[in-house]
Amino acid sequence: MPYLRNAWYVAALSSEVQDAPLARQLLDDNVVIFRAESGEIGVVLDKCPHRFAPLSRGKVRGEAIECGYHGLQFGRDGRCTLNPHGAKAIPNGADVRAYPAHERYGFIWFWPGDPAQADAATVPPYPFNEDPGQFAVVYGHLDVAGNYQLVVDNLLDLSHVEWLHPMFQQPGGVDAHRTEFFVEGSTVIANRWKPNVLVHGLHGMLWDKPSTHFDARSNMRWTAPATMSFDLGATDCGGDVEDGVKLPNAHLVTPASELQSHYFWSIARNRRIDDAQTGAKLQSIADRIFRTEDVPIIEAQQRNMGATSDLMSLKPISIEPDIPAMRARRILAELIREEQNGRRASAAE
Ligand code: FES
Ligand SMILES: [Fe+2]
Repeated sequence: MPYLRNAWYVAALSSEVQDAPLARQLLDDNVVIFRAESGEIGVVLDKCPHRFAPLSRGKVRGEAIECGYHGLQFGRDGRCTLNPHGAKAIPNGADVRAYPAHERYGFIWFWPGDPAQADAATVPPYPFNEDPGQFAVVYGHLDVAGNYQLVVDNLLDLSHVEWLHPMFQQPGGVDAHRTEFFVEGSTVIANRWKPNVLVHGLHGMLWDKPSTHFDARSNMRWTAPATMSFDLGATDCGGDVEDGVKLPNAHLVTPASELQSHYFWSIARNRRIDDAQTGAKLQSIADRIFRTEDVPIIEAQQRNMGATSDLMSLKPISIEPDIPAMRARRILAELIREEQNGRRASAAE
């Protein structure tokens, strides 16, 4: 299916790629992600050009990955660096496709498009994940048997918390929310303010004041293709955002294929940052919510949709909270169209 190719996507959590190579399907390609001895990351096609064994069955050797079948080695740039056989000459064409990769904010990013356009400076910023003086961070990764845009729809319409997530439900339901929606260039912002509500949710777990009410916020910011920054927080009623509990999140969705996705997330916190138990509890509760509440409904949605990612072709009805996700879908479709037109134009030159 058509994807936006000239963009950074998350391939893995940093913690998932330590000593052993990791096989993963990303944008329909089967790749292997490995950490070289220097700590640098390689992302190459998981198919040895000799007899097509998956390189993920091999081992990391210095800066290269060694095929586990006959021992050819390939560098992070995909070039064959060693042939252990005969005169040891490197055969012509003994290269494997390599993808630009960059490790930042606790994630391994990869660039499935034109390598010449990959610029590490354009990795989307999650500065709270690199600010240990102020924030501690927990991470997670889930597989979702559904199209990646259904996961984005879920995150851009947080009205669903009142029905799907008991931990976030409020007396008054969505009537207690005040919503805002902006488009800035190709960024979609969907803010949900919840003034003077009962202490609840993940931010409630870190609320260490006697008050029973706080001003909560759950403000989502989307950039193409499926990169979200989420400002979850709470303050004293009428208080200053800077004085409150802050749980800035990253939500990053990468298609594995048309109907299968990787959902990577992180939650930073500015309270109890030295308390590992708080971190473990936050990680396990967030994982439980996503794994047992969000993912099952998205997967069931996809099953009901059948083997298609084309939501609009099924003529869904629309309600007000769909607006941010629909704008994001339109912006992404336009970017994909522009990219494909550009590719066709340069192919015709
Ligand atoms: S299949 Fe990889 S070295 Fe033979
Ligand atoms: Fe949810």
